[in-house]
Amino acid sequence: MKTRITELFGIEHPIIQGGMHYVGFAEMAAAVSNAGGLGIITGLTQPTAEKLAAEIARCRTMTDKPFGVNLTFLPGLASPDYPGYIKAIIDGGVKIVETAGNNPVKWLPILKENGIKVIHKCTSVRHSLKAESIGCDAVSVDGFECGGHPGEDDVPNFILLPRAAEELTIPFVASGGVANGKQLVAALAMGAEGVNMGTRFIATVEAPVHINVKNAIVAASELDTRLVMRPLRNTERVLNNAAVERLLAKEKELGDAITIQDILPEVAGVYPKIMTDGTMEAGAWSCGMVVGLIHDIPTCKQLIDGIMADAHAIISDRLARFAA
Ligand SMILES: Cc1cc2nc3c(=O)[nH]c(=O)nc-3n(C[C@H](O)[C@H](O)[C@H](O)COP(=O)(O)O)c2cc1C
Repeated sequence: MKTRITELFGIEHPIIQGGMHYVGFAEMAAAVSNAGGLGIITGLTQPTAEKLAAEIARCRTMTDKPFGVNLTFLPGLASPDYPGYIKAIIDGGVKIVETAGNNPVKWLPILKENGIKVIHKCTSVRHSLKAESIGCDAVSVDGFECGGHPGEDDVPNFILLPRAAEELTIPFVASGGVANGKQLVAALAMGAEGVNMGTRFIATVEAPVHINVKNAIVAASELDTRLVMRPLRNTERVLNNAAVERLLAKEKELGDAITIQDILPEVAGVYPKIMTDGTMEAGAWSCGMVVGLIHDIPTCKQLIDGIMADAHAIISDRLARFAA
């Protein structure tokens, strides 16, 4: 399938694996790229720029297809070594960067000078338009149903995607809630040029996470996610567990007086415990409502081939019937 996104990134299928903390290692990115999608290494999961350079080099040994690196610009005071990470990306010959979080304007000139295509993840039309105006090549439009940080506007993709189509000139992909071919076709119908999936890719054979995480995703329903950190205006959609219930109880009790310090036990340093050790009650971890649509643990190739086969069948059979 050819779309503006497959053309922009030189990939076979319009399916991107979004950056995911402690999931987006070389194994994940290479598996998605080898299956014809766009795999993405999560930059900040690597503790230093040198480690990111090594991870990029490791990914090169696993695929000769294009892959990208996610750079998440964190809110607040935390300031990772962004210049170092960007140097590792440039020196590693990576030509695609997925930015997320704060406005990436400061880093765009150096990325563009080095021939890097930038896709910025946005949760609103106004942020998407901003990304377009500063020179991003594409945007990933992340609806309210998404795993991770859906922003504070709470607009789901059934509205957000056609709104983005009304306003944007650069291509965009539908991000959040996507797991199958029906949804890829729906996204294309609403004006997107492809999809970005997070949660769905965690429940794959190659995802380098503990089997408990994959099993938890398969076992969960669309009713099992919760929104945390809303009072801090840093809303995150996570899978419910005992730690999340504790966190929500604190939010209820402390109200607007809550600070990040109050919830550190539930959110700080949680990812290695969950993703690597499989200690599922260790804290709050990002997960989308799409868990309700995830019932198996295929390889990335089986997943992507299945999505594409279903999408083609829906377009040429079911939709063609309605056009008659
Ligand atoms: C476990 C997990 C970790 C994530 N970590 C990041 C991250 O570090 N940076 C980022 O930009 N997005 C992150 N995301 C968001 C994904 O890239 C993607 O936008 C989102 O998962 C799409 O929604 P979906 O899960 O419904 O497919 C994460 C998502 C999950 C599920």
